[in-house]
Amino acid sequence: MAYETLILEHHETVMLIRLNRPESLNAINNKMLTELCTVLKKSSNDSNVRVVIITGSEKFFAAGADIKEMEKKNSNEMYLEDYFTEEHNIISSFRKPLIAGVSGYALGGGCELAMMCDIIFASDTAKFGQPEINLGVMAGIGGTQRLPKTVGKSKAMDMHLTGRYMDAQEAERAGLVSRVFSEKDFPVKIIEIAKKISEKSMSSIIAIKESINFSYEANLAAGINFERRKFHSLFSTEDQKEGMSAFVEKRTPKFTDR
Ligand code: HXC
Repeated sequence: MAYETLILEHHETVMLIRLNRPESLNAINNKMLTELCTVLKKSSNDSNVRVVIITGSEKFFAAGADIKEMEKKNSNEMYLEDYFTEEHNIISSFRKPLIAGVSGYALGGGCELAMMCDIIFASDTAKFGQPEINLGVMAGIGGTQRLPKTVGKSKAMDMHLTGRYMDAQEAERAGLVSRVFSEKDFPVKIIEIAKKISEKSMSSIIAIKESINFSYEANLAAGINFERRKFHSLFSTEDQKEGMSAFVEKRTPKFTDR
């Protein structure tokens, strides 16, 4: 199926989704988010897809939500449409590993989209920002909630209140980004990492994702209890037997998701 705003690439069991509205620096409009959610829903049920990467082009991941689409809307229209809420929920609850590969601008909704993913890898040209304040509004799909949990209150306030950008190095130091690669290695390096993740047991992957995401909701005792239950439950899988016997037998494990 061809998409108007996305280009899909398959790299074995890694699906790479390239945001593709170059005329507006990949501004995220309704069409793009709908298409993105369609691809994610299909990928959820497709055992040939084990890891998904969302990326843009060399110069822009996404320069935010589409300002031209929002410009004329009033608050009641935004409220009734529940602008981007359903899409936010679909993306942020995707169960398989979801990686953002950010090169160039990730601004406003672009930065928020990257933060909905499990890992953000950046190229050395990446620029992150929440400049909505310059438009007389504010972040609306998680930016005021996820950024402080990632980089702390002071830096999050700084980003949201001044609208300034963070470069890749600062984003890595602040913990927003996991690793920075040179532009020439992008996205080859992240595809390699995604392939390594795709070889792990899906039961472990999902249990780890659920446990880490629960740490954002729970107090420490509840989180540790949740983790312990997940850990114990993995001992019912064949992959646990395979992983541990492979270690003892000094060979590479072959996981089957059973
Ligand atoms: C619509 C956009 C856009 C956007 C860029 N364009 N960003 N269109 N929505 N978010 C369009 C421009 O209008 C222009 O089209 C073309 O892309 C090229 O952009 P330029 O500004 O000419 O490029 P440049 O000078 O290189 O500047 C790049 C830039 C700047 C610094 C990234 O474009 C910029 O500041 N963009 C807006 C960033 C922003 O404020 N994002 C937050 C959006 S609000 P034309 O047709 O004029 O050539 C948001 C809210 C999220 O994200 C909450 C949602 C619920």
